Amino acid sequence: MCGIVGYVGKRDAIPVLVEGLHRLEYRGYDSAGLAVLHRGRLAVTKTSGRVQDLRDKVAATASGKASSGKGSGKGSIGIGHTRWATHGEPNEINAHPHTDTAGRVAIVHNGIIENAEQLREQLTASGVKLVSDTDTEALAHLIAAELTGDDSMSLEDAVVRVLGAVEGAYGLVVLDTKHPDQLVVARNGSPIVLGVGENEMFVASDVSALVRYTRQVIYLEDGEVATIRANDFHSTSLNGAAAGEKTPMLVDADALDYELGEFSDYMSKEIHEQPDALRRALMGRLDERFATARLGGINLDARQLRAIRQVKFLGCGSAYYAGQMGAHLVEELARIPADAEPASEFRYRSPVVDPDTLYVAVSQSGETSDTLMAVQELKRKGGQVIGAVNVVGSAIGRECGHGIFLHAGPEVSVASTKALTNMAVNFALLALLLGRVRDLSAAHGERIVEGLRNLPDQVGRILAAEAEIASVAAQFAGAERMFFIGRVRGWPVAREGAQKLKEISYVHAEAYQAGELKHGPLALISPEMPSVVLIPSDDLVAKNISTIEQIKARGGPVIAVTSADLPEGLADAVISVPKAEPELEPILFNIPLQMLAYHAAAKLGRDIDKPRNLAKSVTVE
Ligand code: G6P
Repeated sequence: MCGIVGYVGKRDAIPVLVEGLHRLEYRGYDSAGLAVLHRGRLAVTKTSGRVQDLRDKVAATASGKASSGKGSGKGSIGIGHTRWATHGEPNEINAHPHTDTAGRVAIVHNGIIENAEQLREQLTASGVKLVSDTDTEALAHLIAAELTGDDSMSLEDAVVRVLGAVEGAYGLVVLDTKHPDQLVVARNGSPIVLGVGENEMFVASDVSALVRYTRQVIYLEDGEVATIRANDFHSTSLNGAAAGEKTPMLVDADALDYELGEFSDYMSKEIHEQPDALRRALMGRLDERFATARLGGINLDARQLRAIRQVKFLGCGSAYYAGQMGAHLVEELARIPADAEPASEFRYRSPVVDPDTLYVAVSQSGETSDTLMAVQELKRKGGQVIGAVNVVGSAIGRECGHGIFLHAGPEVSVASTKALTNMAVNFALLALLLGRVRDLSAAHGERIVEGLRNLPDQVGRILAAEAEIASVAAQFAGAERMFFIGRVRGWPVAREGAQKLKEISYVHAEAYQAGELKHGPLALISPEMPSVVLIPSDDLVAKNISTIEQIKARGGPVIAVTSADLPEGLADAVISVPKAEPELEPILFNIPLQMLAYHAAAKLGRDIDKPRNLAKSVTVE
């Protein structure tokens, strides 16, 4: 998704902006640009390529190599953007920042202006020549029109007036040549975070762009506008009501969390961070004495927890599959009916909201628009909703008000690994807590506590077998399509495994329940269609072995991922997973599937951290 950076202070703004944009690259983008104020004029540089290309262009301009009259120069205030095309193709003209005709005002914008066509038509009718196909450009002209001829008008007032006529979602930053000491930022549906430094202020759509400079941050609320200067800031609500005093909070990540270190890409780094991420998730949350879990972020007492009659997990993509793992855990340990649904479906289908159901909004970023909208719909209908998010201060976390913090640490790669694992382990804790206020025995609870405690080391053992998993991946990476087969506990894991393979390697992968194979998909089995079959060591091992035999009988190659002892020669390749408590095994089975997808994608030469067409957090519809 689009990324925003802004700076006002004493430094040369360009390196700060370029560095910030580089930190936002992981979110997915197709073009980039920046504008700085230099000797009273806007200097704008854009590219339809990568941030590195922007960096080169700016450097070339600075050393006088670029021949165009435009281009960047030194300035201590500026704005930058990485764009993920919505209105108009991803070319240099459509890249942000956009300016008005006179080059007075520059704006960067995330989100979608829904009445853009109407605004653009009005501008054209009044004689303005629009140069891009974007919704954002209209805002630049409208803000400049408000300011022109009225020297007493503040930039903030001009922005507020224009936003009054705007429908849609935005996070935006505006720079005006006639107000050279300030940036005006506004938020409605797209995240904006301010970074407070020593005599300097930063703004970004994601803290990753700021943590190199400051860890003191302020999250802007939806419907807020703020003016930031090097030494101060103030915010008000767009509808005129004054916003409360804002105190910066300390963000729990630093620049090192975003460094690759010994790894060649973030996905590999994050796969290997999983034992530590799991330890963080479990720290202080296992109660040995009463064989239960402590989840201090959930403001529900035992009586309220007992009153829950159903649990429903809502999330998108991997967060949805993690929710499905959570639903299995809740049903098994707490014996409460539970299921998961994509938040993107839930929000549009006029759901029946039951006051005795506990809804769990699952999101790594805490900013996914579909999940946020589902939460808002639930709240409107009186639903009880808790968040399970990885980013403190994120929109979903704040909207829910209480919930479970995932503790995975910053996740950069588009393909979710450690966040998904921490989602699943946190749901095991939730299931244990719900189970122990109901009928789960202390002995069963102890078994789960012990099983959870063992998980980080068990994940470490799977990671140590990376070379073997990589060779299996290399053996099958040439396949055009693959099946991922799971049964009961293995089913959500199979779905997540198929998702991981398709999103980063572009190999077509489909997940099926083992029992459903014979009801249709078996027709596709052939020597060209390998199947990854998951066989946990539960009471369904024999059933899963016969699934493999059915596939083998039709000439299909099989990769067995298993914690059970399989008959010699049953599968073409075997990936072993340590035996764990059966309820918790899905958490472990997910790890080799991440590595399979990773090494298949690496073998195929894919850009692993930035898969085509995908974004890390989808903050638009
Ligand atoms: C996008 C990403 C997925 C992710 C999903 C939910 O679609 O490409 O990898 O699982 O969003 O993201 P969230 O931040 O809400 O967990």
